[in-house]
Amino acid sequence: MLEVLKSNYAAKGIPKGALALPLTLLVVVLFIPLIMNLHESYSNLYDDGSLESTENLTCDVFSGNWVAYSGRPYYDNESCPFITYKQNCFMNGRPDRDFLKWRWKPDQCELPLFDAKKFLKLVRGKSMAFVGDSVGRNQMESLLCLLNSVARPEDITDRYTLNDDKYFKWWFYAHYNFTVVILWSPFLVKSSEKYLNDTSFSNAENLYLDEADEAWTTHIANFDYVIFSGGQWFFRPLTFYEKGRVVGCQKCHNVTTDPLNLYGYRNALRTAFRTVVNLKGFKGMVILVTHSPNHFENGAWNKGGGCNRTMPMTKEESALVKPYGLEEIYEIQVEEFRIAENEGREKGLRFGLMNITGVMIMRADGHPDKYGHNLDANVKINDCVHWCMPGPIDTWNQFLLRLITIPTF
Ligand SMILES: *[C@@H]1O[C@H](CO)[C@@H](O)[C@H](O)[C@H]1NC(C)=O
Ligand SMILES: *[C@@H]1O[C@H](CO)[C@@H](O)[C@H](O)[C@H]1NC(C)=O
Ligand SMILES: *[C@@H]1O[C@H](CO)[C@@H](O)[C@H](O)[C@H]1NC(C)=O
Ligand SMILES: *[C@@H]1O[C@H](CO)[C@@H](O)[C@H](O)[C@H]1NC(C)=O
Ligand SMILES: *[C@@H]1O[C@H](CO)[C@@H](O)[C@H](O)[C@H]1NC(C)=O
Ligand SMILES: *[C@@H]1O[C@H](CO)[C@@H](O)[C@H](O)[C@H]1NC(C)=O
Ligand SMILES: *[C@@H]1O[C@H](CO)[C@@H](O)[C@H](O)[C@H]1NC(C)=O
Repeated sequence: MLEVLKSNYAAKGIPKGALALPLTLLVVVLFIPLIMNLHESYSNLYDDGSLESTENLTCDVFSGNWVAYSGRPYYDNESCPFITYKQNCFMNGRPDRDFLKWRWKPDQCELPLFDAKKFLKLVRGKSMAFVGDSVGRNQMESLLCLLNSVARPEDITDRYTLNDDKYFKWWFYAHYNFTVVILWSPFLVKSSEKYLNDTSFSNAENLYLDEADEAWTTHIANFDYVIFSGGQWFFRPLTFYEKGRVVGCQKCHNVTTDPLNLYGYRNALRTAFRTVVNLKGFKGMVILVTHSPNHFENGAWNKGGGCNRTMPMTKEESALVKPYGLEEIYEIQVEEFRIAENEGREKGLRFGLMNITGVMIMRADGHPDKYGHNLDANVKINDCVHWCMPGPIDTWNQFLLRLITIPTF
């Protein structure tokens, strides 16, 4: 480039020496920042080469820390059209950006950055279903944004359902013959109402713990990946049914003072796992995303609590954070997952535990807080449950890519 410029000028008869210094300076001024930027992103990410393809597949990537990261986020609200307005924190006025400057660093190895091309290559000709609640949808939308730099999907929802809304969506990447869907099933089992658009968070619900929800069971038999996530909905008043008869309830007498009865959650999850393991024709991989922590501080969710931090917590700080029911739900998840994994392995199914609970407990800074517009029927509440996009939830899909990369064991 420099040579071309030089000879062009030289051809016009300007003495060579006269331009050499200014040109050199110009080139330096123009290109150094570029080179520095590239250097910055790559040297941080690929410092010892291990963030690239030579991944250590035996490493426990879920034990680690958030470390400073100077690279850019994967996308922004202008480049990605899949950000729901409730998670579009910047559009809603979130002023701080430092919460984007962290990456997850496992203790024993590196977690590679999300590589959209690699992901799409792995899922070519395959299908993936997210089954769960709005946090599962949050992860799926993050995935769409992460893939957006390489490929855009077509919305093919109307081929499968009349419910063409955010609760049920089918996306198709034609060039890769890859289908990704979200199936709304916050309880995984049959419930009395679908409670779409439910903003009260305390409506009573009947759960049929021994009957998996047809919202997902009727669709996933041929899927290659089924990703279960959820848990938040099990905190409300619930009546449990088995074989059509009431077997228990939760918060049935006093919403404020009655304890959780996680009999319901354990059995709903067990039924979901059993159903998928025994589903005729199912040969896919079953992934469970462990419970996603919420971070209401200075008050409960409905009592003005919020989450206005701008930096991750340290491990020590986060050890003091005890979101309601988190530990209990997490423990049930791990136990039920292990049981299902043992059953499913005998049938040749693959399993993956996406253990994000401890990873995300430190990210009290990653929620929309007041920049999310969550409304109760009569109180304005802060959203300390979902995750801003872009944001730390993008890391979940780095974990997902790793899980589907690990060869069958
Ligand atoms: C992979 O990580 C484990 C620790 O999780 C370590 O013991 C092992 O040496 C690592 N292997 C390689 C090839 O780096
Ligand atoms: C993106 O966020 C900026 C604020 O950072 C806002 O001004 C803009 O309207 C948003 N755009 C979209 C498409 O959400
Ligand atoms: C696309 O993938 C599906 C499985 O998801 C497969 O049945 C079908 O044959 C594939 N089509 C092409 C054109 O490869
Ligand atoms: C949910 O709310 C949206 C927007 O407010 C509305 O268009 C839709 O019809 C509602 N769905 C149900 C099932 O009430
Ligand atoms: C639930 O318990 C709280 C605290 O003891 C009490 O103030 C409230 O009146 C009770 N609600 C009902 C419906 O009994
Ligand atoms: C965060 O919220 C708390 C409690 O409402 C408040 O005391 C504090 O000043 C807030 N911090 C910032 C940075 O807004
Ligand atoms: C999940 O990750 C945490 C650290 O974030 C770790 O302490 C825990 O043992 C992991 N659980 C499983 C089942 O691997």
